[in-house]
Amino acid sequence: MVDCCEGDTFKLVQDYYGKVLENSGNLKTSACTAASAPPPRIRQILGKIPGEVLEKFYGCGAPLPEGIQGLRVLDLGSGSGRDCYAAAALVGESGTVTGVDMTSEQLEVAERHASDFCKEQLGYKQSNMRFVKGHIEFLDKAGIQDDSLDIIISNCVVNLSPDKHRVLSEAYRVLAAGGEMYFSDVYSDRRMPKEAQEHEVLWGECISGALYTGDFKAICHQVGFADPRQISINEITIQDPELKSITGNARFFSITYRLFKVPGMLEPACEDYGQFAIYKGTIPGQKHAYQLDDGHNFVTGKPVLVCGNSAAMVGEQGKSWLSRHFQVTGDRSVHYGAFPCGLATAPSPSAAKPSAVGGSCCG
Ligand SMILES: C[S@@+](CC[C@H](N)C(=O)[O-])C[C@H]1O[C@@H](n2cnc3c(N)ncnc32)[C@H](O)[C@@H]1O
Repeated sequence: MVDCCEGDTFKLVQDYYGKVLENSGNLKTSACTAASAPPPRIRQILGKIPGEVLEKFYGCGAPLPEGIQGLRVLDLGSGSGRDCYAAAALVGESGTVTGVDMTSEQLEVAERHASDFCKEQLGYKQSNMRFVKGHIEFLDKAGIQDDSLDIIISNCVVNLSPDKHRVLSEAYRVLAAGGEMYFSDVYSDRRMPKEAQEHEVLWGECISGALYTGDFKAICHQVGFADPRQISINEITIQDPELKSITGNARFFSITYRLFKVPGMLEPACEDYGQFAIYKGTIPGQKHAYQLDDGHNFVTGKPVLVCGNSAAMVGEQGKSWLSRHFQVTGDRSVHYGAFPCGLATAPSPSAAKPSAVGGSCCG
């Protein structure tokens, strides 16, 4: 358990992102720039974002879900604000975006361009973004209320926290029922040795704070995110021989996970109730198919057999934010046994699943 809001780790990270780094060109490893190219519609939005915001982007993914018009988004560790600016466009003028970060220098950049971006680039009457100074382990102290957000995003931040359990538990608290944490971070295929964890550059550059995927999944289960789903994965390589000698045989990955908060509906394993789901084709940029995770690609209009957990995530009883985009048929009155994961839906062509960390479905 960490104390708010002091401690060597917080200080190290604040100095690294507030003072040491001027832009992504100063990084010593590729972890904070491991993001693969976002989809075309997101790239179009990113093209409108001010240069200063983009130069200080240190994310390892593109955790920007589509189809979120009118929703309330929170970005944990928003940095100079790139993903908040993109989310501001995705939620439209009726949605809101809140960025939380503990580093003043990063927040200043994010705040500087927000109003002009919303008015001039998006044509809004006023900014729908706000930025709050705070620690993601202590969202209560930053004034973020219980059940007050629909979507939480985060990009290469949770690994920097000295208390990941607390971060995920706070995320669960502030999400409304039916909401989702959709976030990219760095993970490893094993627990880091003490020497690596104490190395300032390795920690600052999002390597040695990386959670072992097995520990990450255990924390998810403990805090209520019972069935973490992986949507994309890219391996990160460390080129620097000195840094590599400290991390040894460990492998690192930038992974985007989806964690749904659907209280009382997620089970420890995939169960078959004979339910099926149809994607309506209503998400911008995803007219013909929708990828829920690396094992579920819903072709528009085609009924797909799903386990109880997947049914809950895409909107069983209208209880997920995705329910506006799906029709789910069937209830849980009859149980047909264990659900044959991986048989009912084809993986999307883009799904990559290195065996070192495994895929996502049900567990
Ligand atoms: C690698 S940068 C990523 C920034 C941003 N998400 C992006 O994609 O550009 C990490 C950011 O997280 C912030 N951060 C790290 N640990 C934090 C914590 N415990 N609470 C709040 N902010 C934190 C840092 O200040 C920094 O701005």
